[in-house]
Amino acid sequence: MKKATSLLCMMAFCAGSLRAQAPKPAPAEQAKMNTFVSQLMARMTIDEKIGQLNLVTGGEATTGEAVSNDVEGKIAKGQVGGIFSLTTPGRVRKAQQIAVTKSRLKIPLIFGQDVIHGYKTTFPIPLALAASWDMALVERTARVAANEASADGINWTFSPMVDIARDARWGRIAESCGEDTYLASQIARVMVKGYQGDDLKKNNTLMACVKHFALYGAAESGRDYNTTDMSLNRMYNEYLPPYKAAIDAGAGSVMASFNDINGVPATANKWLLTDLLRKQWGFTGFVTSDYTGVNELIEHGLGDLQRVSALSLKAGMEMDMVSEGYVKTLKKSLEEGKVSAADIDNACRLILEAKYKLGLFDDPYKYCSEKRAKTEILTPANIKFARDAAAQTFVLLKNQNKVLPLKKAGTIAVIGPLANTRANMPGTWSVNADLANTPSLLEGIKAVAGNKVTVLNSLGSNLTSDATLQKNATMFGRDIPRDERPEEVVINEAVATAQKADVVVAALGESSEMSGESSSRTDIGIPEVQKHLLAALLKTGKPVVLVLFAGRPMTIKWESENVPAILNVWFGGSQAANAIADVLFGDVNPSGKLAATFPQNIGQVPMYYSQKSTGRPLAPGTWFTKFRSGYLDVSNDPLYPFGYGLSYTTFSYGDVKLSANSFKPGQSITASVTVTNTGSVEGKEVVQLYTRDLVGSITRPVKELKGFQKISLKPGESKTVTFTISENDLKFYNADLQYVAEPGDFKIFIGPNSSDVKESQFALLGK
Ligand code: BGC
Repeated sequence: MKKATSLLCMMAFCAGSLRAQAPKPAPAEQAKMNTFVSQLMARMTIDEKIGQLNLVTGGEATTGEAVSNDVEGKIAKGQVGGIFSLTTPGRVRKAQQIAVTKSRLKIPLIFGQDVIHGYKTTFPIPLALAASWDMALVERTARVAANEASADGINWTFSPMVDIARDARWGRIAESCGEDTYLASQIARVMVKGYQGDDLKKNNTLMACVKHFALYGAAESGRDYNTTDMSLNRMYNEYLPPYKAAIDAGAGSVMASFNDINGVPATANKWLLTDLLRKQWGFTGFVTSDYTGVNELIEHGLGDLQRVSALSLKAGMEMDMVSEGYVKTLKKSLEEGKVSAADIDNACRLILEAKYKLGLFDDPYKYCSEKRAKTEILTPANIKFARDAAAQTFVLLKNQNKVLPLKKAGTIAVIGPLANTRANMPGTWSVNADLANTPSLLEGIKAVAGNKVTVLNSLGSNLTSDATLQKNATMFGRDIPRDERPEEVVINEAVATAQKADVVVAALGESSEMSGESSSRTDIGIPEVQKHLLAALLKTGKPVVLVLFAGRPMTIKWESENVPAILNVWFGGSQAANAIADVLFGDVNPSGKLAATFPQNIGQVPMYYSQKSTGRPLAPGTWFTKFRSGYLDVSNDPLYPFGYGLSYTTFSYGDVKLSANSFKPGQSITASVTVTNTGSVEGKEVVQLYTRDLVGSITRPVKELKGFQKISLKPGESKTVTFTISENDLKFYNADLQYVAEPGDFKIFIGPNSSDVKESQFALLGK
């Protein structure tokens, strides 16, 4: 009986925040669109309808081996619905002109691109933006990106990427918002808002595409494109909410992920794309595959191109990115009764609707303004914002003896393979970044230090001693200089430079292409040769600041035990160098907090704070205890917990004060804490609220983020931060996938990170 209920609930999706909430256009506008699209479709042949489902590249391979060919010929024949990675008003206009003058029905094309963290003005990688915990800032980065990309011909972005990522081996954790469901959901919402604005028809907005639907971040072993196998409980409670948040915010499109989900790859997963996305969530936009996702179903073992194309269409996947499986086989499948005319019509309708929503039928050239391209891209205001934004994302991991901030005096040695490279700065997935004109860290430090400082530089080591690995980790023009002399010679040269300085800035870590797509690692530490360099620099006795470039949480236990100051700078976009220098010299006080846990070693991965308790948890503060859940060789603690980050000032937290110790459904209570700046400079602090459901019908995480506020405090100043807690904040999906809050006791925690918290307790009463 119990089982039957579960299944029924699963299908009908009984209740909860994952239910349909997507905004609907006004009925009159909807009716106008329906009539327009119906009239157009009445004139379309089956080939023309299938043509709309075809998304091609502008003729260059981007993220796979496949390349689209004879694009212009296909557009003229009505065999293309959209193009991606074709930019600039001139090129876009040329392609659009073929569509609206040479194709029989003159249907405009949609133009997509991976506008992931900025366009030409590049912002920090998404994992870094998440570390700002500043939603207004994140939204503004998306708004600026939309403005620049739309000025250059684009009207559709393959962003936001909101895959929950808890395995730091996975290279694409860099593109994610990190490990936490709540934080990622907030980011999903504001990014869609930033891209799409309040009106998709405006010429400065982009249609968002939330990806990768779904669970791509849970790939087994952190290996890219790998299998995902997950309970519904975990999916609904932990992995699905950020996608849903993007859809509720009105995201116009969704990208199916590459991975297999419980035996059915997302691209052909009817449960995912139709039952969940459309029927339960009420999504009304269109779904695109990922790059050659349809074709890849052949390798997944689901059949030949005709079969996998039919499967994908019937599953609810409307647009075929690059595979051309739809244009090549759907007509045959229709004739053979393997797909229906209604299947094709439904898909075609959704794509035409997207074009209608973008206003392309009114003006197909609205994104092709040479004037906008000249005046609205890389503007001084955007560049200034990129610098300000980047500085908000850096995380100060350690600052012993106040080595930082540096004085603008004396001699500074800037050493390391990442010190003097421009191309490495913007970060993975920044296809439009101007690599040649992005300042290197050395240039940024020189510019900000002013003329009272002598800045020395030395390479110190290669990125890695393995030349092949370095080549694979510096693709797409992201070159890093290489010195083929013996390792000791290069290190000794750097040591000699360090000896002439008052302080050493060691620019070490990953290259930007050591994270991102198809850049998984089984060793997430700083490459050995760089560690040798770091050890040699420390031996000089000079104070060393490690400026850590990272696209993921890294295992830096030795570094954190031995280096006095560590500033994690991720990859900060086009103004990263100046922003790093602003923080190093104290012009900006760091305030970033980790959006993903830093493990002590690779064996702890996947690691995240919101774990479940076992039946044999270790007692707090203990390490190994026989027959308790832990390891022989390492404690269960992270190196740096989720939410962690220091400042040049210090903050103290008062006790948690509740307005009441219990409340009933429909009521709420408040939890307050007074935070004081106990240091001598102004600083920002992210005050974090977590809860724990102490007794549940299913096991519940030991902590879950439920709120945060970023505040600014002058030296000596105190502020009381208040959070409101209602029944809604306590809801979760139970065993029947009903979204419920269960009466009982809850712990509440408030603090500067997920480990270091003050706690209190309250009860949710029954009705
Ligand atoms: C990636 C997507 C990206 C697409 C188009 C794929 O390989 O997984 O994130 O949007 O390429 O460039």
